[in-house]
Amino acid sequence: MQSFIERLAQMTDPTHSAASAAGPDIPKRLVPPHVERLTPYKPGRPPADLMAELGLKKFINLASNENPLGPPQSALKAVAAASAAMNRYPESGGLQLRGALAERHRVKLDNVVLGAGSESIMANIIRAFLHGDDEALTSEGTFIGFYVLVNAQGVKLVQVPLKNYRFDLDGIARAINDRTKIIYLCNPNNPTGTIFTRGEFDAFVRRVPEHVLIILDEAYYEYCLGNPDFPDSMSYRYDNVLTLRTFSKAYGMAGLRLGYGLGHDYLIGYVNRIKLPFEPNSLAQAAGLAALADDEYLQRSLANNRQGMAMLASELDRLGLKRVPSHANCILVDMGSEERVNAITHSLLRHGVAIRALAPFGLPHCLRVTVGLPEENEAFVKALSASL
Ligand SMILES: Cc1ncc(COP(=O)(O)O)c(C=O)c1O
Repeated sequence: MQSFIERLAQMTDPTHSAASAAGPDIPKRLVPPHVERLTPYKPGRPPADLMAELGLKKFINLASNENPLGPPQSALKAVAAASAAMNRYPESGGLQLRGALAERHRVKLDNVVLGAGSESIMANIIRAFLHGDDEALTSEGTFIGFYVLVNAQGVKLVQVPLKNYRFDLDGIARAINDRTKIIYLCNPNNPTGTIFTRGEFDAFVRRVPEHVLIILDEAYYEYCLGNPDFPDSMSYRYDNVLTLRTFSKAYGMAGLRLGYGLGHDYLIGYVNRIKLPFEPNSLAQAAGLAALADDEYLQRSLANNRQGMAMLASELDRLGLKRVPSHANCILVDMGSEERVNAITHSLLRHGVAIRALAPFGLPHCLRVTVGLPEENEAFVKALSASL
């Protein structure tokens, strides 16, 4: 086998081709089969690249379920103030933010865990509880991050088809077996925007054995505040339910990476054993504390979403497209075929609007558009009309 130094020499030698420099002789036994099967995350192309290539002056990103308002001013101020202490490690207990979250949700500090995004907490839960012959159970057509993390852990992933674009809780309950260790539910669901109701959730939980952990991903729960049908998991607690929430959506802080989990202290205790001690970073912790107190921003964020959602829904209807009623910050549109989705996605891109084609979610005939600012929604509708 070539040494690393030899390989490096070849790679930096301009006479050597990239293909041969990449080298096929890494020993296969180094890499476990479940890691070999993974495909790396494919990020969208940077907007600046696309703008240069397509000669665009403006680029509207409605592809990533981000908050179009920009971050809360309160969080920006808190980040500026906290950055003076950037030479220090973060306070590893995240005590202030956890305290504020515990107070907000009327739980104890030990019921709250923080992470660099809720996805990081999801990763820690999977590492803490899944191994060997364990199985993880969820739906098709839900958040891809969960599929990737389970596959990366090398355990079996069981997926039940969506029913009319909604989680089929009855089908999932029937799919539970002796090896089922974790069930992942996403409410509202990304990418469909659908919810399961209080009554449906209550009936489901009664069918889940106590030793099976339910991850309840409520990344979009703020968009359901005030919806009496929505089973806000913190309004009643089950010992085997771990709730995940995030500052990435309604609080407009996706780039800072901050999420939290709420659950029984014995579950949170195990997740904390796996968690890296210094996440989330100190700026994220400070921003989260400020954003949590900034109800004006949250209300503005929800109002923008409500208005944008109503406008997009009526325009999609006017264009005769088949959309799924949504409770999140995005709308799923069934275009009938993958070809049509690809054609529309490319055409919109040429108009400077990015939306998400849903083949990676297992819904190749569907696309997802995120609610933007009023002018962004209008630009999208205009570009969509032209593209159709
Ligand atoms: C359902 C769901 N869960 C989790 C996440 C990731 O959230 P975070 O930014 O907190 O890691 C997303 C992001 O799109 C999501 O849609």
